[in-house]
Amino acid sequence: MRALWQKFLWSAVVGGSALLSGCGGGGGGSAEPVAPGQAVAQAQALSDVASLGKLIFHDASLSASGQQSCASCHDEAHGHAAPNNLSVQLGGQTGSNQHGTRSAPAIRYLRYNTDFHFDSGGTPTGGFFWDGRATSLADQAKGPFVNPREMANASPADVVAKLAQASYAAQFERVFGAGIFSDSAAAFERVAQALQAYQKEDVEFAPFSSKYDAFLRGKAQLSEQELRGLAWFNSPSKGNCAACHPSAKGADGSFPLFTDFSYDSLGVPRNMAISENLDPSYFDLGLCNSSNPAVAALPEAQRVALCGLFKVPSLRNVATRAAYFHNGVFHDLTTVVTFYVQRDTQPEKWYLNGSGQVDRYNDLPPAYRSHANTTEAPYNRQPGDAPALTDAEIQDVVAFLGTLTDGWTAP
Ligand code: HEC
Ligand code: HEC
Repeated sequence: MRALWQKFLWSAVVGGSALLSGCGGGGGGSAEPVAPGQAVAQAQALSDVASLGKLIFHDASLSASGQQSCASCHDEAHGHAAPNNLSVQLGGQTGSNQHGTRSAPAIRYLRYNTDFHFDSGGTPTGGFFWDGRATSLADQAKGPFVNPREMANASPADVVAKLAQASYAAQFERVFGAGIFSDSAAAFERVAQALQAYQKEDVEFAPFSSKYDAFLRGKAQLSEQELRGLAWFNSPSKGNCAACHPSAKGADGSFPLFTDFSYDSLGVPRNMAISENLDPSYFDLGLCNSSNPAVAALPEAQRVALCGLFKVPSLRNVATRAAYFHNGVFHDLTTVVTFYVQRDTQPEKWYLNGSGQVDRYNDLPPAYRSHANTTEAPYNRQPGDAPALTDAEIQDVVAFLGTLTDGWTAP
């Protein structure tokens, strides 16, 4: 049985002639660009535009509080994800008087992401943010500056006025033309382009330098435990993780990104650390509420079928972060992997409500709970069944995930 949203899309978007392959079947979307990785990526001089992007990325003076930059929530030392274990990051006028409603994702390897589209099997794929609402890295980059929960500027013009005071303002004018600051809409576009160029050019955002990359190059051995973890990760009857987080090199030799950039509904538990969630009528519905034009244009029934879906994140550098899933509900990898395999076999561990009853998939309104994926391993179990991984096998998978951290050097 297929999840409901897949059935909807299947008939509505692509017709009904071929078999729908779950979450991309491990191969990823056909439009996926080639990732390099054969050789260790070399640092190259950044273009002028990307160099400006690097300065902007680290410039806290471009926030209302003067205390927050892109790097505050996307820290190099944590795989360009948040540097702390908060479920959601702080921000706003003072830099800490507001909080977000979603976890800050790692933003590496996104240069290999695609535009949002429905792939040949009808699976939603690509786009930026947990709900794919941004169509490019440049489009994405405009959001945080004026998001009242983040850098909290009043308007793009406000950002540009601050930029005109920055130490690198003259450099900005040299690259984008004298007078650029007098057209704040154009200047803000250039800011977004510069941030995109930085993320696309700087090798820091796609170094392919983990122990696992070295292993794929034949330059490192994985320990026995890591190898076992890799086997469980790949096995369709055990973790089945690679179905959505591909781990193998592409036919063209491209290195795996550990995401197929598709979307799925895992039914992760409600996170009461997000204060909005104290309101029982509040739900973060993910993809169906995305302002991405391709989603917003869908007929109502097809759009609603996407409620509960969030983008599959890359697992590269996953061991360097400490808030997992779109709502940051878990803070360590053992709990994440245990959730995957025990979600359906021991639902009382994850979904107990205040009166001690199991309230499965409680972060979705009842009407959309059927969207949670219950067809693919490791979710395809019933209460009381043996989980797909034992506790020891869970530890093996966690050990394997630790090999995905960039910056590994031979001992
Ligand atoms: C206060 C913390 C915070 C700040 C500051 C911040 N971000 Fe983010 N970033 C987030 C969160 C949270 C998300 C996910 C939001 C969502 O999906 O709705 C995100 C998402 C992203 C994504 C999309 C990732 C993906 O997988 O699609 C990119 C790229 C990104 N941010 C880059 C930036 C840039 C560039 C800046 C500076 C202009 C910035 N961020 C500033 C918290 C932050
Ligand atoms: C059917 C697709 C699918 C399969 C199979 C799958 N994942 Fe995921 N994974 C996702 C999606 C979708 C998310 C984001 C869900 C959300 O936030 O609501 C995710 C998120 C994660 C995260 C959180 C990463 C972060 O930065 O927040 C980890 C860790 C993870 N998966 C590991 C695994 C492991 C280990 C397995 C195998 C036991 C696995 N996944 C199997 C789709 C899948």
